[in-house]
Amino acid sequence: MSNTIKEVAKLAGVSVSTVSRVINNSGYVGEKTRKKIVDAMDTLSFEPSSIARGLVSGKTSTIGLLLPDVSNPFFAEVARGTEEAAIESGFTVILCNSNWDLERERMYLNVLKGRAVEGVIVIGNRSAERDLIGAVSPLPCVFVDRKVSSDQSYIWIDHEKGASIATEKLLSIGCEHIAHVTGPRKSTSARSRLSGYLKTMKQSGMEPSVVPGNFRFAGGYEAAKALFLKDNPPDGIFAANDMMAIGIIQAANELGVSIPNDVSIVGYDDIDMAKCTSPALTTIRQPANEMGRAAFSLFKNRVSEMKIEFDARLVERKSTK
Ligand code: RIB
Repeated sequence: MSNTIKEVAKLAGVSVSTVSRVINNSGYVGEKTRKKIVDAMDTLSFEPSSIARGLVSGKTSTIGLLLPDVSNPFFAEVARGTEEAAIESGFTVILCNSNWDLERERMYLNVLKGRAVEGVIVIGNRSAERDLIGAVSPLPCVFVDRKVSSDQSYIWIDHEKGASIATEKLLSIGCEHIAHVTGPRKSTSARSRLSGYLKTMKQSGMEPSVVPGNFRFAGGYEAAKALFLKDNPPDGIFAANDMMAIGIIQAANELGVSIPNDVSIVGYDDIDMAKCTSPALTTIRQPANEMGRAAFSLFKNRVSEMKIEFDARLVERKSTK
């Protein structure tokens, strides 16, 4: 049976805080007292766990990383950047996947608090800001891919601007009927991209065509089949992320719709697979790995209320004329 710090302190006749100073080798402890504590640990076969050390010192060198969909390469790459930076700094990472589920988000945040993590990095997510910040508290937190209120730290890209760049690309190559396949409405970044598309279409005097999507391959595939089978199919499609754009390309190839001769496609994220589709995908690049590393840097340096904004940029390949 594992023994606790309290039992060591009782057997050695000292306080718990004196035992913790010996465990963490921090602060003064007289030689005679130290020997009594070490003898008590040997008698009780006490092995201080890293959590035990951390619960006393508040330093577990562990952080939580909460993301909405671990199967999505964008989130996976952000997580990889965070974890690389964490390991380089001697931290370990507890990865939690909420699957866009509010209750699971809260469950994981409570689990992380119980694991005595020193902080949490939250990527994406759907929670209303006040709910999420309440659920995270009192853990130090950095938000990635969402803009939160001014007294929080976050890593952000202007998705409205990124969507405008994508839409303007399709307009610039002469597309006259441009559709947008959205991300899930619960996603703040999806709503920003929809807004950017609508504003750009309005400024160009073009009639928008919006098809609900979900950031997943199947969502893009089904949306494209509906679009391509219409009497007046689009000659340009802006997908709110690359996973849906890949689904759109699959549907086009199955239906014999030529990309880019019949329809040009622009995605968003620039995941590695965007280079491998046939034709290769034109997309808006988010520097996911750098975003993850920047998030850990803000956490590690305990920088509060810091905002780091990255630029979204167009990466042109063969899915556009
Ligand atoms: O592909 C997943 C999308 O959800 C990304 O574009 C990212 O911005 C997140 O919001």
